Amino acid sequence: MDKFIVNGGKRLCGTISVSGAKNAAVAILPAVLLAESPCIIENVPNISDVTAIFRALEALGASVKRIDLNTYEIDPSCVNSFIVSKEMAQGMRASSYFLGALLGRMRKAKVAPPGGCDIGLRPIDQHIKGFEALGAKVTIDSGMVVAKSERLGGCSVYLDVVSVGATINIMLAAARARGMTVIENAAREPHIVDLANFLNSMGADIMGAGTGVIKIRGVEHLHGTNYSIIPDQIEAGTYMVAAAATRGDVVINNVIPKHLESIIAKLREVGATVEEGDEYVRVSMDKRPEKCNVKTMPHPGFPTDMQPQFATLLAVANGTSIVTEGVWDSRFRYAEQLTFMGADIQVDGKSAIITGVDGLKAAPVKANDLRAGAAMIIAGLIAEGETEIADIEYIDRGYELVVEKLTAVGADIKRVSDTSFDYVLKAN
Ligand code: EPU
Repeated sequence: MDKFIVNGGKRLCGTISVSGAKNAAVAILPAVLLAESPCIIENVPNISDVTAIFRALEALGASVKRIDLNTYEIDPSCVNSFIVSKEMAQGMRASSYFLGALLGRMRKAKVAPPGGCDIGLRPIDQHIKGFEALGAKVTIDSGMVVAKSERLGGCSVYLDVVSVGATINIMLAAARARGMTVIENAAREPHIVDLANFLNSMGADIMGAGTGVIKIRGVEHLHGTNYSIIPDQIEAGTYMVAAAATRGDVVINNVIPKHLESIIAKLREVGATVEEGDEYVRVSMDKRPEKCNVKTMPHPGFPTDMQPQFATLLAVANGTSIVTEGVWDSRFRYAEQLTFMGADIQVDGKSAIITGVDGLKAAPVKANDLRAGAAMIIAGLIAEGETEIADIEYIDRGYELVVEKLTAVGADIKRVSDTSFDYVLKAN
């Protein structure tokens, strides 16, 4: 397995361009199954989660053609299977979206549970509640989730928890159901809106995405379309925090500043200067960050997927901060890694008490999950000396060209394979 070696202590300065949103791509690509003719999707991030989805689409019978670096043509007309096997689901968190998409298209789906990051229990009871309300029968067969329906009919479903995945899955299954489906207490993340826009561009009739009530009037047919995925809010946020953490000055291009409001607000609270343009934000910082408290919440609250990165910034802040996780049961496994680098973090249930230290020390650490991995990169950028980050396959799940992008703004980061890593160790 590869590792990253980060030689920290360098200010990041320059421009970074953000890729397409992972969490929109992993919903939109399976949604192509609902179309009857080819779709051209632009701004697709080249990350391993997306590769896994392409493999699954091909195994189902769809054809996937790369047109240029980030543009793909997907023809779902030859799809002849409704099964996403364990092998196909491995390594992708979003396998469950194949349930909604295949149910909507073929009225049946058999899908292995998702792999991906370990950030606590990841139940799908609300997805199942939605499918059943639409008229599907859902069972478990040899560890696979099976959903079947003779006829999907519009329904009203109230989500007991605000769930991105359940909202998306119900939208997928309802887009071609008969009649009107209403999702109440729906998630409002930018990728929900992006999926609705994508489905509408295929001929769907979806209203209210981005609010807590989404109405989907089912249509009989959906056609192919050309669509460009929104920029990745979390990738942007990660580079914004990296800029502040290194007391740098970075323009982050290809963003929708509206999607970054909570991150911008918190960066300003710790003392960073954030300038907002139409499609860029510029983050600069010339002093030690101030302490601040953060609580993660569903959108438009502060995103849980930015929690480890922001906590890393607070690890070197002036004073004590409290970070509270309001979405997942367990998302502080990275804290131990940060303590190996000299951070002072006490985790107590859903909160972490972070007492800022003057600086971090380079150490061998690992990525416990995707965003924990991003946090380790930021910690490595802060720390003087050479930080080795293991298990970076998690980072590859969600950050396109992370080494190239950071190098372009002055970071000293490289990817080494295990063998060259041994060499680096010996050489040192
Ligand atoms: N939940 C339930 N029942 C369900 C579904 C969810 O109790 O049926 C609970 C979860 O246990 C969790 C909360 O509801 O406590 C929110 O879960 P949600 O369904 O919103 O999460 P998800 O759809 O599985 C997506 C992102 C995550 C992100 C969360 C929250 C994708 C592929 N994943 O997960 O992204 O943390 O929404 O915003 O879109 C990441 O990108 O690093 C990542 C983990």
